[in-house]
Amino acid sequence: MSQVGHKGPARSGARQTLNYRLMASLQKNIVILISGTGSNMVAIARAAQKQAWQQKWGVRVAAVISNNAAAGGLTLAKDLGLATEVVPHKSFESREAFDAALMARIEPHAPALVVLAGFMRILTPGFVQHYAGRLINIHPSLLPAFTGLNTHQRAIDAGCRVAGTTVHQVTSELDQGDILAQAVVPVLPGDSADTLAARVLTQEHIIYPQAVRDFFERGV
Ligand code: GAR
Repeated sequence: MSQVGHKGPARSGARQTLNYRLMASLQKNIVILISGTGSNMVAIARAAQKQAWQQKWGVRVAAVISNNAAAGGLTLAKDLGLATEVVPHKSFESREAFDAALMARIEPHAPALVVLAGFMRILTPGFVQHYAGRLINIHPSLLPAFTGLNTHQRAIDAGCRVAGTTVHQVTSELDQGDILAQAVVPVLPGDSADTLAARVLTQEHIIYPQAVRDFFERGV
């Protein structure tokens, strides 16, 4: 009896371990990097929940990591039940050292996709190379126009009639990777950088979750 009793749980324990291993191999983890408000992160996490990405494709947001402990998005992520981590870039003497520490926090999640969502750090070529093909960003302009910062004011100053946003693969050249999705908004008379940014952001919340979903639907 005791032998049977002993073997039963041991076998089921081994089976459970196997199940975890299998789940881990089937699981497709997303790691989202943020620096601030985190509204795009929320849009992606909500889409994942509402559209049952986990059940359909084994896709889940495994962690939200910020370089800024004060990022409002960290609270929003916790409210959504997501694991959060902070790697404060100011604690590191070089970009390389920061990126190495960031990678050390990302790697345990074995991410199928790393999503930059308002992550305001330039990443080193080594980091970008490591995640090549599974590292995407959203940039608030119609790339290839207006790479870099202050995109909305620059679009207004240039007299653009339309502006927008771009989801793209990240390469070692700033805002230059393959375009995955874009959305266009009008630039209206009297727009400020803030009003234009708000209009662009509403479109980002639509195209970024869709682009992430497309990435996994392609079966990557
Ligand atoms: C978004 O508009 C995103 O396009 C932009 O920061 C904002 C982040 O908002 N990203 C960049 O400028 C990257 N160069 P969020 O924190 O609310 O998602």
